[in-house]
Amino acid sequence: MGAAPVDPRSTAAWASLTRLADGFTPDLRRWFADDPDRTDRLSYDAGDLHVDLSRNLLSAEVLDALVALGAEVGLPARRDAMFRGDQINVSENRAVLHTALRRAADSNLVVGGADVVEEVQTVLRRIYAFADDVRSGTWRGFTGEAIRTVVNIGIGGSDLGPVMAYEALKPYAQAGLECRFVSNIDPTDAAETLAGLDPATTLFIVSSKTFGTLETLTNARLCRAWLVDGVRAVADGAPADADIVARHFVAVSTALDKVAEFGIDPANAFGFWDWVGGRYSVDSAIGTSLAVAIGPERFEEFLAGFRTIDEHFQSAPLERNVPALMGLLNVWYTNFLGAQTHAVLPYAQSLHRFPAYLQQLTMESNGKRVRWDGTPVTTDTGEVFWGEPGTNGQHAFYQLIHQGTRLVPADFIAFATPTYPLADGATDVHELLLANFLAQTRALAFGKTADEVRAEGTAEAIVPARVFPGNRPTTSIMAPALTPSVLGQLIALYEHITFTQGVVWGIDSFDQWGVELGKQLAVQIAPALAGDADVLAAQDTSTQAFVRYYREHRQR
Ligand code: F6P
Repeated sequence: MGAAPVDPRSTAAWASLTRLADGFTPDLRRWFADDPDRTDRLSYDAGDLHVDLSRNLLSAEVLDALVALGAEVGLPARRDAMFRGDQINVSENRAVLHTALRRAADSNLVVGGADVVEEVQTVLRRIYAFADDVRSGTWRGFTGEAIRTVVNIGIGGSDLGPVMAYEALKPYAQAGLECRFVSNIDPTDAAETLAGLDPATTLFIVSSKTFGTLETLTNARLCRAWLVDGVRAVADGAPADADIVARHFVAVSTALDKVAEFGIDPANAFGFWDWVGGRYSVDSAIGTSLAVAIGPERFEEFLAGFRTIDEHFQSAPLERNVPALMGLLNVWYTNFLGAQTHAVLPYAQSLHRFPAYLQQLTMESNGKRVRWDGTPVTTDTGEVFWGEPGTNGQHAFYQLIHQGTRLVPADFIAFATPTYPLADGATDVHELLLANFLAQTRALAFGKTADEVRAEGTAEAIVPARVFPGNRPTTSIMAPALTPSVLGQLIALYEHITFTQGVVWGIDSFDQWGVELGKQLAVQIAPALAGDADVLAAQDTSTQAFVRYYREHRQR
């Protein structure tokens, strides 16, 4: 299963951090008052991302020990092994090369005898030609009409990346061309996504790395039936299914044989490789819907954004390496200060799916209990990631972050330039959004003391309820604007944060065996719902009771 990872607890840095955590009493008010350079010292630039770590629960000694921890667990060597194409995904015996998807077109990287950059570029050229054809109306549906809606059918990494990026970059999408996304096997999803669409102008992209995922194949069949029925109703004669499907279905997969079995012409399929994990695949052919929406030039900018952060992660020394520092900070909170969760709070409506995207990236990667050599982990691993766009979150769950009993480190993300520069009379509305971004991080860091509350004339009995303890850690990230490049930079930032944490914990951040059992059981249980008495008898009593409840209420 691979060479044993370094047990982080065996390092000198872990011992230092343990000592520093013992009786640790952060005091951001005092730290800021005593050290006017704190923000300058703890602010970093990676590409277009300006990252301020100064409002974290971080002393100089803690920071030094975290950097030392990164070195002692071999983070730089493991990072280099990933970029080189070593088989670091040991439980699946694979290289981990999503970074090759965005390498410069004129570079090369030979892995297993093949230049993966050339392979990537070949597929990209095909995607771009396809995107141009759809955008220009050269690609026509069966009845001769141009495509107006692209529906991506996929789930997990074959959905979350494309939908998140499309929502984020919608202002760059071609007018008159809309993308929709179907993921859930709940038939509501397909029904509502297809509602109001015209089959003659709808193109489906079936996105599935394995082309064996129950949800995606079921939805693809539902969409195919809807398409064929709809086109037949308006087409002349009795066209064959295959001829209709050929003009309205393309596929993205590593399993091109299964694509053909499904009835999609391999000429209309875009491949990728087993060294791209699902949750790391938005910059592969899985991003085809995005490439169609924003066009090849913008998609290239998106890839260049990833590359900017890859280069930073590869070259910046650990003490100035933003993804490494943010990953190590998460280790500090998780393993030394007892944080169980981590909030991501974009002050940008366009990033409303970013927290959901990060949930798969971080939790499918680092929610592990054994290390890459098969031995049990020696520390807690992956924290629960969650979030919502500010300011909506402020009126929902921020209460707990400000005054609750739990430590919730939070990343705040904002942009200097708004997507829509609207004014409310003389007020620039984006400035109100940014004022909230600044106000929240300040309130979380510095709080409000009992004396300050009293000074406002508050009745003594209510003072405790109105105190804000402060010392609630936040990282603030700001970029000039949410461009395709900046989005690529943000995604790569979190990919490498996730990687850093996985290396410290000694886990394989690239497998996901924990999703398998439920998938197998669903297939086993399905016949019981459909009335198979033997399958029902083989279930536990709780499952049996629910199957009976279902059948009774569905009158089966
Ligand atoms: O449910 C887990 C998972 O395997 C994810 O890792 C993956 O992104 C998703 O399913 C979809 O898989 P596929 O692209 O093969 O359909």
